[in-house]
Parts: sequence; structure tokens; C-alpha cells
Amino acid sequence: MTASTQIIPHSRPTLGSQDAQALTAAARSGQLAQGARVAEFERGVAAYLGVHGGVAVSSGTVALELALLALGIGRGDQVILPSYVCAAPWLATVRVGAEPRLVDVEPQAYAIDPANAAKAISPRTRAIIVPHPFGLPAELSKLEALGVPLVEDCAQTLGATEGGRLVGSVGRATVCSFYATKLLCTGEGGMLLSSDPLILEKGRALRDYDEKPTLDAAAFNRKMTDLQAALGVSQLAQFRAFLERRAAIAAQYHDALGQTGLGLPAIPPGRTHIFYRYVIRLPRTTRSSRSLEALLTRLEHRGVQCRRPVFRPLHRYLGLTGYPNSEEAFETALSVPIYPSMTDEEVSRAAHTLCEELR
Ligand SMILES: Cc1ncc(COP(=O)(O)O)c(C=O)c1O
Repeated sequence: MTASTQIIPHSRPTLGSQDAQALTAAARSGQLAQGARVAEFERGVAAYLGVHGGVAVSSGTVALELALLALGIGRGDQVILPSYVCAAPWLATVRVGAEPRLVDVEPQAYAIDPANAAKAISPRTRAIIVPHPFGLPAELSKLEALGVPLVEDCAQTLGATEGGRLVGSVGRATVCSFYATKLLCTGEGGMLLSSDPLILEKGRALRDYDEKPTLDAAAFNRKMTDLQAALGVSQLAQFRAFLERRAAIAAQYHDALGQTGLGLPAIPPGRTHIFYRYVIRLPRTTRSSRSLEALLTRLEHRGVQCRRPVFRPLHRYLGLTGYPNSEEAFETALSVPIYPSMTDEEVSRAAHTLCEELR
């Protein structure tokens, strides 16, 4: 197979020699389980966000669960979350025994719509989970004004700002995911972050199960290993370069796709985008779930693997109606490959193939 016929995967980790060296050093040190490297990674991510501390865990989903537990959320409580998101926020909510209240997203920005969140607030609402989708912040200032604790879900967005503030620095708690193809990767992994010492203390207490004064049924083994954290520390050191490369690829896509009639990623005033995903919208003529599926298949046959940015919105899983913007996004949004390890040749080929297929 020649370079030009090799498939361009939708996502790929960005791993280099300094990552390999960090992993080797951790392995050689003999300290594999949670130790000093986990603490270093926690300090690094917390410093990047400008919050007091972090609690590294085994995944982003676990970090969400831990955030809700640390906020004291459980049976009888309600948690507001968007319908257009992966299953993790819903799963975390039901695992702690709370009731998820789904709300629709902004039509172009895909983030939870503050006006819809406001309407969903009840006396039992204890938190709003705020994913920042695809690299673009949600409208944090308006959400903050609702007076409900925010759990910022930064699994897909780090380094972007809303109203001049970094995502992850605003909510009562913040969660990150370090899954293999996320912005920073540790293979699997996540982190709960906060400036509230009680949240951090509770998160730390519930991350481990052993050597406690009493048996706590909420505690569990949710730990990250030092091996994973070594990779995390190494990735964090490269984060600025990763973001620069993402911005350069997004600019190339903007130039190439600007004349196609496709909807390019919206960046509302007051927000910046770091392009974890490059999500385009199909023109009216090609709309409908079936034509999107057919397009995905054609693109894959031509060597460009694209995806729906959300596999299936939560309201669809749950058989609920009344989420028109999520529904529209599900029918028309397409995520194209973008990651720092993409070569220039891959970016040009992906853009060229998209132009041809969508002209
Ligand atoms: C918005 C969002 N939240 C949470 C998660 C869960 O992260 P993890 O896969 O590390 O459990 C993801 C992962 O895809 C995500 O995209």
C-alpha cells in the first residue's frame, strides 16, 4: 500500500520519542502504581488550569462520578446535562443514584444551551454537567449566572477560553479525560480538579478503598498508575505545540472547505476554539441520517475515516423527543480527522477528498 492509499484514521494518539523515554524511565524506576508521578501530573494539570489541585483517576467517566460524589449528590437529586453528548455524563449521574435532566444544545456551537438549562432547574437540581464540545467552550458566564454548581467536562476541550477565562477554571469541579485519542493521553485516565479543598479531599478519599478507619461503600479503586502519569506529564509538556498544530490544520481545512457550501465550525463571540474535533455541517441537499451514513462509507472507501461527532444523542437512547438542535446535529454533523500527528499530506488529501465528495 502506498502512502497515498493508506487510510487516514479519524483519530490517532500523538506519541513521540520523549513519550517513549518517559514511559521507559517510569518502568525502570520500579514504581508502577500510583506514586510521585501521579502527584506531579496532578500538580501540572491543576497549574495549567489555575485551580488548587487535581485527583487523577482511571478514566474521565470515573472523574465525573467522583465529582458528583464529592459534591454530595445522590438519590433524590437532579443533575442537568445536554442531550448531545456521549454516554459518560448520563452514566455518572445514574451511578450516583441521581436523576439526569436532559436539555437541548445551542444550534451551531453544540454546547448546553443556558436558556434551556434555566428552564430545567427545579428545587432538586444539584449540579449542571457542562461539556465543552469538540474544543469550543460552552457559554460559561451565562451558565454560572444560573446559581447551580457547575461540573465542567473538559474531556474534549483544554486551553480554550470563554469571556477571557480558561475552561476548567470556572466550575465548582472540573473533569478531564486522558483516553488514548484525547488532547493529552495516558492510554486511559481522567482527573477531577477543583479549587475547593473539600472536593479534593473527598475525591482523594473515595479514589482508594484500603487502610481507612471505616468501611465506606462509596470508596473504590479508581486510581491512575505512575506509568500512565509519566506519559501524562510528558504530553502536558508538549501541549502548547499540540494546540498550535491543531490550529494550523483547522486553518488548512477552513481554506480548503470555505467554498464548498459546508457549514464550517462556528466560533461565537467571546469564545476561542482549540479544534479537538473539526466538525462540519452538511448542506441542505445532503441532509438526512441515511445520506450521512452513505457519505461516511464513501469517504472511508476513499481513505478518509470520518465519524458522527456524537455516536447517538442521549435523548435517542432514551426514546425522548423535544431536542431539535441535538437531532439536527445528529443528522448533519460530520467530524473529520484532526490531530497533531497528521502529516501535511494527510491534511491535504482529507480536504481534497471532502471537497470532491461534497461539491
Ligand atoms: C464529553 C466527554 N465526557 C466524558 C468522557 C469520558 O471519558 P473516558 O472515556 O475517559 O471515560 C468523554 C470521552 O469520550 C467525553 O467525550
